[in-house]
Amino acid sequence: MADNESILVTGAAGQLGAVGRTVTGLLLDRGLPVRAMVRREDDRAAALRAAGAEVVVGDLLEPADVYRVVSGCRRVYFGMSVSAGYLEASVTMAAVAREVGVHALVNMSQMTVSQMSIQHTTPSPQQRQHWLSEQVLAWSGLPVVTIRPTVFLEGFFLPLTGPTVRDRGRIELPFGRGKTSPVAAADAARVIAAVLADPGPHLGRIYELTGPRSQDMHGVAREYSDALNREITYADIAPEDWERVLKSARLPEHLIRHLVTMAELHRAGRYDRMTDGVERLTGRPAMSVREFVSLHADEFGGRRS
Ligand SMILES: NC(=O)c1ccc[n+]([C@@H]2O[C@H](COP(=O)([O-])OP(=O)(O)OC[C@H]3O[C@@H](n4cnc5c(N)ncnc54)[C@H](OP(=O)(O)O)[C@@H]3O)[C@@H](O)[C@H]2O)c1
Repeated sequence: MADNESILVTGAAGQLGAVGRTVTGLLLDRGLPVRAMVRREDDRAAALRAAGAEVVVGDLLEPADVYRVVSGCRRVYFGMSVSAGYLEASVTMAAVAREVGVHALVNMSQMTVSQMSIQHTTPSPQQRQHWLSEQVLAWSGLPVVTIRPTVFLEGFFLPLTGPTVRDRGRIELPFGRGKTSPVAAADAARVIAAVLADPGPHLGRIYELTGPRSQDMHGVAREYSDALNREITYADIAPEDWERVLKSARLPEHLIRHLVTMAELHRAGRYDRMTDGVERLTGRPAMSVREFVSLHADEFGGRRS
């Protein structure tokens, strides 16, 4: 695999801590050339350019855009925001990657897909689309590496528990007594960067990623308490109340259905999973909840001295 060809990273603008943006930085740190795909020219695009990436603008739902950005790249990270067009974007990427002759396609998926089949699916439109996307990529014959992380600390716990921890010292989620082992998107990004840097040994593999501990939400709250040096408790709220909160935040229906399903599966014990994927692929243990909350203490209302 030629080392001088750019590696394409889709969804590269992201929020701070999002996968594509972090992967871009990690590959640049390794001295690898990166083509970072963004949706629009903005400050985030300028920051990627300043960091040394070749920035390309395009829409993952437009085949001609996808062909333009993939052309010239043999290694690709494919991931984008949870959204209704995810399957279409995946199939478009698969068609283009075949046409262009991609040597390694690292596909972001979700751990729940490990428990899905034709007979056993979930009500989440996003999880269904990830399952179908994996099917399509398997049929495509492309050299694929599949990344299946469990729930993200950055993408879920920070935005959805940050405000109540800040205001009331409480995690309010309808997870019942279900256990969970959230993983840092930063760790998922470290795995993806390691795979993209040397894809050969990973082709055809599926990597499930969790944090270092599976515990119920009271255990998670204790890790928040340790990190913030003040008492944080867990309130098991009613699923309908949580759905009302999500609706009042005016989140897209696709995302609400996905989040509501994640809560339902947590209550059913389906997020009680443990893997050593992060440590095995990166040589470093996965970040704990306590470490994550310490790193983001200000966003959780600060640490008491
Ligand atoms: N959150 C979790 O708990 C979790 C857990 C496991 C797996 N995952 C998976 O992780 C992925 C999301 O990763 P993330 O949180 O790093 O992503 P993200 O930050 O939500 O999205 C990445 C980027 O995708 C871009 N994008 C959206 N639609 C696009 C389009 N049509 N064309 C081009 N770019 C587009 C967005 O651009 P703009 O910023 O300009 O809108 C965004 O910057 C999903 O596949 C999700 O299923 C998430």
